[in-house]
Amino acid sequence: MQKEDIKHIGVVGGGVMGGGIAQVLAVAGYRVTIRDISEQAVEDSRQAIVEGKWGVKRAVEKGKMGFDNALQVIELISYSTDIQDLSDCDLIIEAVPEKMEIKQAVFSELDGIVKPSAIFTSNTSGLVIQEIAEAVSADRRQRFLGMHFSNPVPVMTMCEIITTPQADQNAIDAVVAVAAASKRAISMVRDAPGTYGFILNRVFAAAAREARKIVEDGLATPEDVDKAMMTGRNWPAGFFGHRGGIGKQW
Ligand SMILES: NC(=O)c1ccc[n+]([C@@H]2O[C@H](COP(=O)([O-])OP(=O)(O)OC[C@H]3O[C@@H](n4cnc5c(N)ncnc54)[C@H](O)[C@@H]3O)[C@@H](O)[C@H]2O)c1
Repeated sequence: MQKEDIKHIGVVGGGVMGGGIAQVLAVAGYRVTIRDISEQAVEDSRQAIVEGKWGVKRAVEKGKMGFDNALQVIELISYSTDIQDLSDCDLIIEAVPEKMEIKQAVFSELDGIVKPSAIFTSNTSGLVIQEIAEAVSADRRQRFLGMHFSNPVPVMTMCEIITTPQADQNAIDAVVAVAAASKRAISMVRDAPGTYGFILNRVFAAAAREARKIVEDGLATPEDVDKAMMTGRNWPAGFFGHRGGIGKQW
């Protein structure tokens, strides 16, 4: 699978992350199918993409997206509860709940249904990619990567691309090309068994530990820790719930 071969992308799980991921892929011109497990879930996903806080209607109203681009997004995204509708996808991006057994069950099923040349990726926040990939065939493991987006995806451009020792360079190049076309800021990171969180969530967890320790040791109040980080480093939100920046969802 080369980068120019990616035409149809399957997003598995159309929740907070899957909906946002589908939206930025469609903005870039990719045909996307969102698969979720119930009619209600796919309807919620459609609703969020069209009418939601970060959706296309509001993006047009705020002058962040052209009307034609919004129509393109709506036309390019299909919704389904039938996993067979992903069979001809060139790339899969999984965004189901953060539980190893759920992700492995999803990928095991996909492996038998989606064409053998397709690339599989997981938007896990930090699970070990090689461990998730134990659910698929050895051949597919060469086309199995992490693709970690940040919430809300239409606003936060980060994309960590997580590579494994088994990963094929063509698959890596193709995923990098899709992320770049979708206007993501790409950080490459190696998968590391025994860890959780890649770059973003490891650094954040380390900082959060220090923040808690400072408060536990009685050195500063939670409010003053948050204030220091927000005013000294321009963080949009602090560890203890104080926030500024992009709004209530943070
Ligand atoms: N929310 C965040 O801030 C954030 C940020 C980065 C990464 N992530 C990661 O993204 C993934 C999804 O998180 P989310 O916040 O979007 O969760 P969510 O609960 O909003 O969405 C998960 C969706 O998956 C669906 N689902 C469950 N089982 C499924 C199956 N077998 N097939 C298809 N769909 C299924 C659910 O119905 C739901 O719509 C997790 O791994 C999470 O760690 C989340």
